[in-house]
Amino acid sequence: MAISGIKGFNDILPGEVETWQTIEKTARRVFSCYGFSEIRVPILEKTELFCRSIGDATDIVEKEMYSFVDKGENKVTMRPEGTASVMRAFIEHKLYAADPVNKLYYMGPMFRYERPQKGRYRQFHQIGCEVTGVTDPRIDAQLLTMLCHFFGELGLTEPQLQINSLGCPECRPVYRQALQAFLRERLDQLCDDCRRRYATNPLRALDCKSAGCKEATVGAPSVLEHLCAGCDDHFARTRGYLDALGTGYGINERMVRGLDYYTRTTFELVTGLLGSQSAVAAGGRYDGLVSDLGGPAIPGIGFAMGVERVALLLADQKFSKRPDLFIVALGDEAQLEAFRLCGALQRKGFAVEIDYEGKSLKSQMRRADKLNARYSMVIGGDELARGTAPLKTMDTGNPAEVALSAEAIGALLG
Ligand code: HAM
Repeated sequence: MAISGIKGFNDILPGEVETWQTIEKTARRVFSCYGFSEIRVPILEKTELFCRSIGDATDIVEKEMYSFVDKGENKVTMRPEGTASVMRAFIEHKLYAADPVNKLYYMGPMFRYERPQKGRYRQFHQIGCEVTGVTDPRIDAQLLTMLCHFFGELGLTEPQLQINSLGCPECRPVYRQALQAFLRERLDQLCDDCRRRYATNPLRALDCKSAGCKEATVGAPSVLEHLCAGCDDHFARTRGYLDALGTGYGINERMVRGLDYYTRTTFELVTGLLGSQSAVAAGGRYDGLVSDLGGPAIPGIGFAMGVERVALLLADQKFSKRPDLFIVALGDEAQLEAFRLCGALQRKGFAVEIDYEGKSLKSQMRRADKLNARYSMVIGGDELARGTAPLKTMDTGNPAEVALSAEAIGALLG
């Protein structure tokens, strides 16, 4: 019996992969305008890294990590996200030594043991950006604008930017207490998970999908009303700078995020087109993370997008490259000429296809059609004798007689 892949781990097949390449290429192009450089970090890290950064009381650390003990008895985890690894590398290689301001981006697979469904997988891919060393809210607004710019470049205007502030170690505990006091009266309405998390992570009740939690949290105190003066000012200035850049947003005071390292600005880009997996990209500020991981007190802010989700939003668009030319050849001599021309044109940078099986004219033409070639050319005995052949655009069918040389054909293919 054939062996199948593992549930939640997907192959990205030709035909789909061109969409991924477009997403990656667009990201690299847009991010470079904002001064980002790529960083590549390993897939496997010490488990402790994620426990300390994402937080022991989060769903990711509690139930979703692919962790194991390796042959050297080390506890290791396949990264469930990129921020922790990038900050670990930032500290380990003292990237702050020359300049605390670093703008880094990364792309690659992440692993979470979640229930697979449309837009949610166990191996999924993120493209993420992290900025260190800037407290000023201009960077918050600039990063969000870059994210919207990226989606705009892909022709996607639908995802809506939602922002919130989660405060800082000074004001969040005050809010937590206010929320706990509110939830204490409604504990019996909360789902098992939220009741269990009431002491360790009460904010999660605000974005819980269960009907009971939704009802129980109607009228819950707002985090925005509990911000200290510094956080309130930061949030107001972030909004002002977003306005200055013309970047539209909505405020969602119930957005809590599933990772513990966030402080102040948090955000999500949400869409109604992907069912319950509405966040296409998400992130926020993490001013305490670098020092929590043993580095200097350097602030940070970043986001990651789910590439599978972006690809789903682009599913009705075609990004496959069309071959420039299909050379149909009839007879041994013509096949050799087609083979030679094909090679010369490929070396000139054109995408050219030929037949390998000595098929009939009709069958070769069908293949040229199927491959959606821009041009086709038929070479037989007459064409070889003339030294020219008609080059036909497949869309309009207009032929132009052209010499059987890579230079002449290349000039017409453009
Ligand atoms: P996150 O919200 O856990 O944040 O994930 C970011 C994005 O990754 C989500 O919005 C979603 O598009 C995608 N994603 C997450 N889980 C899955 C899954 N199982 N299947 C498919 N896509 C998924 C982070 O990971 C943070 N590190 C973001 C960040 C960077 N914050 C600051 N810097």
